[in-house]
Amino acid sequence: MKTYRIAVIPGDGIGKEVVPAAIKVLDQAALLDGRFQFEWTIFPWGCEYYLETGKMMPDNGIELLKQYDQIFLGAVGMPNLVPDHVSLWGLLIKIRRELQQFINVRPAKLLQGLPSPLRQPNDFDFIVVRENSEGEYAESGGRIHSGQDEVAIQNAVFTRKGTERAMRYAFELAKTRNGHVTSATKSNGITYSMPFWDEVFTQVGKEYEEVGQASNHIDTLAAFLVMKPENFDVIVASNLFGDILTDLGGAIMGSIGIAPAANLNIEGLYPSMFEPVHGSAPDIAGQGIANPIGQIWTGKMMLDFLGYQDVGTRILNAIEQTLARGIKTPDLGGAATLQEVTDAIIDYLT
Ligand code: NAI
Ligand code: MG
Repeated sequence: MKTYRIAVIPGDGIGKEVVPAAIKVLDQAALLDGRFQFEWTIFPWGCEYYLETGKMMPDNGIELLKQYDQIFLGAVGMPNLVPDHVSLWGLLIKIRRELQQFINVRPAKLLQGLPSPLRQPNDFDFIVVRENSEGEYAESGGRIHSGQDEVAIQNAVFTRKGTERAMRYAFELAKTRNGHVTSATKSNGITYSMPFWDEVFTQVGKEYEEVGQASNHIDTLAAFLVMKPENFDVIVASNLFGDILTDLGGAIMGSIGIAPAANLNIEGLYPSMFEPVHGSAPDIAGQGIANPIGQIWTGKMMLDFLGYQDVGTRILNAIEQTLARGIKTPDLGGAATLQEVTDAIIDYLT
């Protein structure tokens, strides 16, 4: 039997509640399948660790993580005690950058049993592939002068390597799905980087003639995701555009508490990191009412990445059955606890 060694960082707030719940579901799914098992190693890094040691993780943290097959992370942040830029850059962004997790993948799908805030939510199921390392979020620029003379310059950086990598990943993903890629652009307003983005999309697209291809300006695309989300399969986007589109994706699904995400090292050189879209939710932490579905669906993405798509599908089916029976946490308008939702999902795993 294959054993996967997973580094677990529950983090802060509800991360410490939803991660153990997801581990229970993943262990049960592995047991039922019989081909593989997980060996979990918990790292207590995050804001409490910072308050004790002055660091979000130890100096050799990245080296430690490299020894694992994958990383399963909850959420990080205690905004009342540690500034968000310290907690974010000291752990999450550090891991994403140093372990070269260049691609961020976030699905959005209309789930059975979960009403979308859209008035006519047709049966949508799309995935946003977001470039995760450069673009508008490159640390390039500066500020000079002060007062009325103050100037701020932020450079967007698009490398051919990074852009091609994101496009190619999107096309490969589309081949395994409904065979269509939409590129998020804005070459009618942004004069250098986005025409370049379009050229690379066209060039890489020539290698994938069997895949349908379209290019939409980001403003139109945002409107389409509200009006006709069912028209999309895979969307490839730069760092900023992808960030915005994926929050929109989470919103039209019904709650940020269910949205999953993966930061992928697609070459397999270092571990990838699987973490839900939501944060540490200090407003509800410790009450046992956090929605575990985002973390559990994130676990499904880890199974998909490891090559067990059939097991991942079983987990998603169990989530949908649980929702369809009205077993929902308060963020979805229900009265169930995290424990009750988790137990129901485990019961529906077959
Ligand atoms: P948040 O996602 O933690 O919470 C936003 C709202 O959604 C809150 O009302 C919360 O109760 C609710 N919510 C989120 N996840 C939920 C779940 N699983 N079940 C039920 N309700 C849920 O975002 P917020 O409040 O902006 O940030 C709180 C802290 O988390 C900050 O320190 C922030 O920096 C951090 N954060 C960390 C992320 C990560 O680790 N990847 C991502 C986003 C925020
Ligand atoms: Mg965001």
